[in-house]
Parts: sequence; structure tokens; C-alpha cells
Amino acid sequence: MKLCVTGGAGFIGSNFIYYMQKHHPEYEILNLDLLTYAGNLESLKEAEASPNYRFVRGDIADTALVTGLFEKERFDIVVNFAAESHVDRAVLDPSVFVRTNVLGTQVLLDAARTFGVKRFHQVSTDEVYGDLPLDRPDLFFTETSPLHTSSPYSAAKAGADLLVLAYHRTFGLPVTISRCSNNYGPYQFPEKLIPLMILRALKDEPLPVYGTGENVRDWLYVDDHCAAIDLILQKGTPGEVYNIGGHNEYTNLSVVKTILQELKKPESLISFVSDRPGHDRRYAIDPAKITKELGWKPSETFTHGIHKTVRWYVEHSDWWQHILSEEYSRYIEVMYGSR
Ligand code: NAD
Ligand code: DAU
Repeated sequence: MKLCVTGGAGFIGSNFIYYMQKHHPEYEILNLDLLTYAGNLESLKEAEASPNYRFVRGDIADTALVTGLFEKERFDIVVNFAAESHVDRAVLDPSVFVRTNVLGTQVLLDAARTFGVKRFHQVSTDEVYGDLPLDRPDLFFTETSPLHTSSPYSAAKAGADLLVLAYHRTFGLPVTISRCSNNYGPYQFPEKLIPLMILRALKDEPLPVYGTGENVRDWLYVDDHCAAIDLILQKGTPGEVYNIGGHNEYTNLSVVKTILQELKKPESLISFVSDRPGHDRRYAIDPAKITKELGWKPSETFTHGIHKTVRWYVEHSDWWQHILSEEYSRYIEVMYGSR
């Protein structure tokens, strides 16, 4: 099997490459990644040791590059992780989100169609369903929930999902889509809630909680997401969408407090700051379909997963020290300076 992983130098993509190397060592894996600020080859040092792994730097929205690569490599499977993924950055500049997440996906779909890819898997998100009210814990996103996006990020991801489904219906391309809840674990860029809070707490810096901290996210350890995608590749039905989530709902404030407890730091570090524009209130996935049809269930609890994750960041300061560049400091200033 020849597998193209796009965005494999990012958080989930790099974890997925390790997962596939462990569970399918015979697969040839080519990682196509532009290495934006979020892409980091240092996350893949151990993966590079395998003769079955290669890296190509390139933009998924570059038609000539993608077409040439697909013609040469004749991939069996494409798993598209490549995206602009941070909601706050989409508030600053939506245009790159549309270019990469929508146009980039369409370029990949065309190449997949032209060169007979046997499975195109789109890594989507629960954010395409919008949000749920905080006072209705009985409500969950299912695969038939309407697409109802809030941010330029989620709107671009929903646009991509619709294109993927259109290529199935119009051209018969064998596609699958997964929509997962919030991931956490090793190699996540420290702009996202959990690694940002861990690094700031380690440096005794204020932890910026948006609004009142009551917004709810449904957390899944990254390996459980990778296992679900692998299962969909092996057993999923072309044309189908699968929700992925483990019923781990927590308010942001409780996640931040858990991190402080893990690090034995005081709650006085918490600083409530102005809210994210359009901030989604609650995400909550109903994973009944993937559980019933494919037999997936998560293997990590949040209590153990967050403990492992905090330890990972404590023990891998070499990985994150390299990220704390001037560009990163500028981002923190733009995002949090006047909040
Ligand atoms: P990330 O931001 O950590 O990584 C994105 C990767 O894509 C980076 O390596 C970046 O260099 C690469 N990339 C960006 N633009 C590119 C382009 N034009 N061409 C090629 N490569 C490009 O993102 P992540 O958190 O690992 O998310 C991966 C995917 O999973 C995304 O599609 C995201 O929407 C989806 N997702 C994320 C989560 C989550 O909690 N992080 C949950 C559900 C779904
Ligand atoms: O649900 C899946 C989505 O999860 C993915 O599609 C996105 O790519 C991924 O970034 C993530 O989106 P969120 O917006 O939920 O994640 P983020 O880590 O940015 O924020 C989580 C919650 O924490 C959210 O309610 C906003 C809040 N937050 C975030 C940051 C960065 C804060 O309170 N303070 C912060 O500084």
C-alpha cells in the first residue's frame, strides 16, 4: 500500500504517521507538507529512520506540484490532514483558510480522481456542525446534524467536506470523511488550549481563559483519533461520514485547573480575558455510528491522557523550546496583548 499523508508534519498528522508505522510497517508513506508555522519536521525524527517513509515539501493547493506527484507516485490511499487549523488565526486572516482548506482539498481531489486513488480520506472536524447550547447536555452531534458553521475555519472545513462528498456522487471517487472532536497529546502546537496552558504554567505566566471559561469541549487523545482513521481506511464504506469522539466533555476552566494541579501550580495564574469572537459554546460528539458499524472505541481516559500529555511537555522542552521563536512571541502579542 502506498499512502500519501498530507499535513503529516503537524500535530495529528505526525502522530498518525507514527501510528501507521507501528500498525502497518509494510505501508509506504509519503508525507506532503508545506511546513507552515504549524509544520515541524522535528516531530518526525524517529519516523524518518524507516526506509518506508519519505517527505516532500509542497503546497496542496499547488496544482502542478500535486498533479506531478500523484502521477509519479500512484498512491493507493490519500489521508488529508493539511489545513490551517487554528480558529483564532482565522479571525485574523480568513483568506489562507479558504485557500488551503477548500482550494487545497479540491486540488487533491482532482489528482486523486485522475490517478485512480482507491481511497481519499478527508480529516474533518466536529466544528462543521456549529455548536450546542450549554443547558442541553442531552444533545449531541450525529452525522446527520446540519452543517452550521461559526468561524472562517469551520466554514472552510465544511466547504471541503461538501466538495469531498460531491466528488463521490459526481465522479464516483471512493471517499470517506471523519469528523473528530478536540484532540490533545504530544506534538501539538502551543497555540491550542492544552499545550498553550501547559507551557505558560511552566513559566509562571498568566493563563488566558476566554470569557468565563464555561465553554465545553469534548476531548480525545490523539492516538484514539489515529486508530479511528485507520479503521475507517480498512473497513469504512465509501461515501460515508464517521463522527469520532469519546464523551469526554469538560469546561475550559476545568481543563485549565486540571493542568495546574498536574503541574502543582496555583490557580491564581488563571486570567479571564475577552472572549473569542463567535466563540462556539459546546461541542459533543455522538460516536454511535463508528462504534456500531466499525467497532471503534477510545482506549484512553481523559484523566490518564492529560496526565501523560502534561508529562510529555515537561520532558520534551527541547521540542517546544525551538518553537518559541520571535514569530511565536509576535503571535502571542497580537493575540493576547490587548485582551
Ligand atoms: P496542525 O495545524 O497542527 O497541522 C497542519 C499541518 O498542515 C502542518 O504541518 C502544516 O504545515 C500543514 N499545511 C498547512 N497548509 C498546508 C498546505 N497548503 N499544503 C500542505 N501542507 C499544509 O493541525 P492539526 O491540529 O494536526 O489538524 C490536522 C487536521 O485535523 C486538520 O485538517 C484539522 O482541521 C483536523 N482536526 C483537528 C482537530 C484538533 O483538535 N486539532 C480535531 C479534529 C479535526
Ligand atoms: O473540535 C475540533 C477542533 O478543535 C479542531 O477542528 C480545531 O482544528 C482545533 O483547533 C480545535 O478547535 P478549538 O477552537 O476548540 O480549540 P482551541 O484549543 O483553540 O480552544 C479550545 C477552547 O479553549 C475554546 O473554547 C477556546 C478556549 N481557549 C483557547 C485558547 C487558545 C481559551 O480559553 N484560551 C486560549 O488561549
